Amino acid sequence: MPTSGPADTASVVVGNVTKIFNQGRSDEVPALSDVDLTVGSGEFVSLIGPSGCGKSTLLRLIADLIEPTSGTVTVAGRPAAQARREQEYGIAFQQAGLLEWRTVRRNVELPLELRGVGRAERRARAEEMLELVGLADFAGHYPGQLSGGMQQRVAIARALAVQPPLLLMDEPFGALDEMTRERLQSELLGICAKTGTSTVFVTHSISEAVFLSDRVVVMSARPGRIRASIAVELPSRDEAGRQAPVYFEKITEVRQALRS
Ligand SMILES: Nc1ncnc2c1ncn2[C@@H]1O[C@H](COP(=O)(O)OP(=O)(O)O)[C@@H](O)[C@H]1O
Ligand SMILES: [Mg+2]
Repeated sequence: MPTSGPADTASVVVGNVTKIFNQGRSDEVPALSDVDLTVGSGEFVSLIGPSGCGKSTLLRLIADLIEPTSGTVTVAGRPAAQARREQEYGIAFQQAGLLEWRTVRRNVELPLELRGVGRAERRARAEEMLELVGLADFAGHYPGQLSGGMQQRVAIARALAVQPPLLLMDEPFGALDEMTRERLQSELLGICAKTGTSTVFVTHSISEAVFLSDRVVVMSARPGRIRASIAVELPSRDEAGRQAPVYFEKITEVRQALRS
């Protein structure tokens, strides 16, 4: 396994990043402007903002799927490209993106296979991750035999299989019904707490952002800038937390930051 940095190392540092798509062409799009973002080790940060404000772009920059026009991205103290090679993170997007012809178990094993992890260890790790997301009994099923919520949990298990220090999630629960969404939110928090994973989570939902996050980062319309960074401390991240006055206060604070 790759070793993560010392505990006091920030998990992600985005420094003065600007992203302009198609720069110098007539279809130039300034997507992000002067973005600074630090995610601490073990911290859960949500990105929220109007559609098209550059949330996915920021996540893709952190994942080194695209490069900034200017500025720097560091993951676990390394340049993003190096962190990607060393598989410092797992990614889960809105669509589960499972391979239909592979069983659930073998979908979860895939990133381990790509890293050359041996068969027995792969299998053990996949079982452990499926246990964690409550799908141990479905290891032999195919994705087409599962509900949308279950498929999404498989995708999360797969993202976690390499035990990444950093989890990047882009509206992973966007397509799910409210009940499933709430259950997966709780499961995700449990998993993050158990594994000490740092998380950057993109969502449209103010309540989801507040419920999940240590910090909600509010972005402005395109070109995206960071407008506010709102720390959230709930008494607990469960049903009681969802009913705590501070939960509603933070929802209001985020909503106001989005509107201002
Ligand atoms: N590959 C690309 N080429 C050109 N423009 C892009 C590309 N990806 C995203 N954009 C544009 O950048 C802006 C931000 O997009 P995105 O990060 O997907 O927003 P969000 O996830 O907040 O809805 C949008 O105007 C989008 O059209
Ligand atoms: Mg997006």
